[in-house]
Amino acid sequence: SQRHRIAVIPGDGIGREVVPEGLRCLRAAADAHGFALDFVEYGFACAGYWQRHGEMLPSDWRDVLGGFDAIFFGAVGWPEVVPDHVSLWGSLLRFRRGFDQYVNLRPVRLLRGVRSPLRDHGPGDIDFVVVRENTEGEYSSIGGRIFEGTDRETVLQETVLTRTGVDRVLRYAFELAATRPRKRLTWATKSNGIAIAMPYWDERATAMAERYPDVVASKDHIDILAAKFVLRPGQYDVVVAGNLFGDILSDLGPACAGTIGIAPSANINPDRTWPSLFEPVHGSAPDIAGRGIANPVGQIWSGAMMLEHLGETAAAAAVVAAIERVLAGRPDVHTPDLGGSGTTESLGAAIAAEITREQTAAP
Ligand code: NAD
Ligand code: IPM
Ligand code: MN
Repeated sequence: SQRHRIAVIPGDGIGREVVPEGLRCLRAAADAHGFALDFVEYGFACAGYWQRHGEMLPSDWRDVLGGFDAIFFGAVGWPEVVPDHVSLWGSLLRFRRGFDQYVNLRPVRLLRGVRSPLRDHGPGDIDFVVVRENTEGEYSSIGGRIFEGTDRETVLQETVLTRTGVDRVLRYAFELAATRPRKRLTWATKSNGIAIAMPYWDERATAMAERYPDVVASKDHIDILAAKFVLRPGQYDVVVAGNLFGDILSDLGPACAGTIGIAPSANINPDRTWPSLFEPVHGSAPDIAGRGIANPVGQIWSGAMMLEHLGETAAAAAVVAAIERVLAGRPDVHTPDLGGSGTTESLGAAIAAEITREQTAAP
């Protein structure tokens, strides 16, 4: 039977609490569906490692991780110990760039058993996917401070858009839209104000749209797009965005669909030259870390996206189905962000048990 080699990096804060529940569910899926997952856990990319080594990663991290079939990641960031831009540029952002994970896929669905904060929105009413550019854009380290300490003090930071970088993420999004029933694509822009980078983005999106006549494509400026996520989220299908807008939309979307605690993400290297990385959308949540109450569903659903990427399609679908059934039928294990009093462990264990049960119950 198939074996997949997975690097596991829990990271900081609730990353260390939700990753074990992700692993529990992945193990249940592997057992139930007849394949093997070999997990190798790493203690780098966290504040403790930084305290010991003055770096977030060992210098040979590319060799250490590059041969795995996938990376299962929790969250990183502990600003009391290491400034966020240092820890993130020292770890997660290096993985995304170093492994050319140029697509960040972030599905948003309002599931049964989960209450949206939006009036008149129920299960099934929100179902879209944010395709976020993941390697360039506003996330750049090009720039600096000049005239520091004077009253002319000036800070510059460049936005980088490359034709290759823009076209490849747009192409991915259009291809994805073409496979979905509604075949709708919205690209996020701000070409009225950001007058060099964003008209270029629009130009490339318009050119790409011409190659996909079956996809109904249009643009929304980011300001009204954010408003429409709240007012009419049901109209969205595939939303493609640059790095920064995609980051914002992928917290806003899940918040509209109940909680960011359930939101998954897949940092994908579509060429498969390098491992892809699967992690929840949320961060290390220092405000609730250590209490055992973080919602593990974002991590578990990210695990399902990883299984899908590894070709374990049935197991991936089973994990998502188990999440849906437990959220719908087991309010007693809902974590506080879902309005319940369950724990990370009780919710994770219920989903793992459901994965096992649904397989034995299958004809
Ligand atoms: P965050 O996502 O960690 O937390 C935002 C809010 O959502 C907090 O109130 C938190 O308690 C809540 N929350 C998040 N995940 C939850 C879960 N699974 N269950 C229940 N509630 C949950 O964002 P932040 O506070 O902006 O960042 C905290 C740290 O995490 C910072 O160091 C930041 O840089 C880092 N961060 C890392 C990642 C990542 O590793 N991918 C992503 C975002 C933020
Ligand atoms: C995310 C996070 C990261 C990002 C941060 C922690 C650098 O917010 O994965 O969404 O902005 O990409
Ligand atoms: Mn984010």
